[in-house]
Amino acid sequence: MVVFDHEKCIGCGLCAADCFPRAIGIENRKAYFIENHNCMECGHCIAVCPRSAVKIESLDMDEVQELQDISNCIDPETYINHLKARRTIRSFTDETVSTEQINMILEAGRFSPTGGNRQTVAYHIFRDRISEFRSLIIDELKTMGDEVRASGIRDSWYPDFWLDMYNEFKAEGRDSLFFNAGTVIVISSDSPQAAMIAAAHMETMVYALGLGMLYSGFTTRAAEHSTGLQEYLGLKEGYKVWTVLAIGYPKVKYQRTVPRKKADVIWD
Ligand SMILES: Cc1cc2nc3c(=O)[nH]c(=O)nc-3n(C[C@H](O)[C@H](O)[C@H](O)COP(=O)(O)O)c2cc1C
Ligand code: SF4
Ligand code: SF4
Repeated sequence: MVVFDHEKCIGCGLCAADCFPRAIGIENRKAYFIENHNCMECGHCIAVCPRSAVKIESLDMDEVQELQDISNCIDPETYINHLKARRTIRSFTDETVSTEQINMILEAGRFSPTGGNRQTVAYHIFRDRISEFRSLIIDELKTMGDEVRASGIRDSWYPDFWLDMYNEFKAEGRDSLFFNAGTVIVISSDSPQAAMIAAAHMETMVYALGLGMLYSGFTTRAAEHSTGLQEYLGLKEGYKVWTVLAIGYPKVKYQRTVPRKKADVIWD
């Protein structure tokens, strides 16, 4: 429920103009909320009001910050250089990622946009039970690899890699899934777009914190394949695992950026 403070409201109409579902009316130079009118609690009315006259009752208004008080600028060159320099990390030190760091990474997910502002993205964090989870995934990938080999249709090197991963893990404990990362975040949602947008922003925060990560597509595929794993993860109704982040302190140091294919673009 959006509430307007009529003592403060000057009837400028900026909130109504910026409300996408048109849930705000202006009458007698005062804003009012049109109840049951598809408000998605996006907070645009709060953000745009010059008089700070708007609040959403169900949300924590104490976390709202005045933009003049925070630096929110991203220099374009710094940003593109970050994207060029970031690498998938497949070698981690033993140093532990702190709970504060994980909370910052989660904040990046929480403040990412979602369709209709539904905010239906969930995070399952593995730290203490990471060994158990890793074993379950490596076992599942072995099963998937066996199935592919039995079918006789092999369209990628992954099934053989999964078998090698399994054998090396069982024989020497070698971890080619999470590469001994100490923190794994499973991201699930009813919307693949919402999950992946959150994940990409979380990735940027990971590197901003001086950490590194890999997206574990193998884990995503194993979770998709196994209802047992879906139950183990306690997925919400209608949610699927869309991506998995394995996070830690990088052991490897890169010296330069890498070349990439040209962008595949149509200009009309
Ligand atoms: C959706 C997605 C899934 C991925 N899955 C895995 C994975 O399961 N294991 C792995 O080692 N790397 C995985 N990667 C990392 C890619 O192989 C890597 O991004 C790519 O080779 C380019 O390297 P770079 O990230 O260092 O630029 C994944 C990347 C993405 C975006
Ligand atoms: S933006 Fe603020 S001041 Fe302007 S009409 Fe809306 S509530 Fe009133
Ligand atoms: S929260 Fe968003 S949708 Fe709801 S009244 Fe404000 S601007 Fe409109």
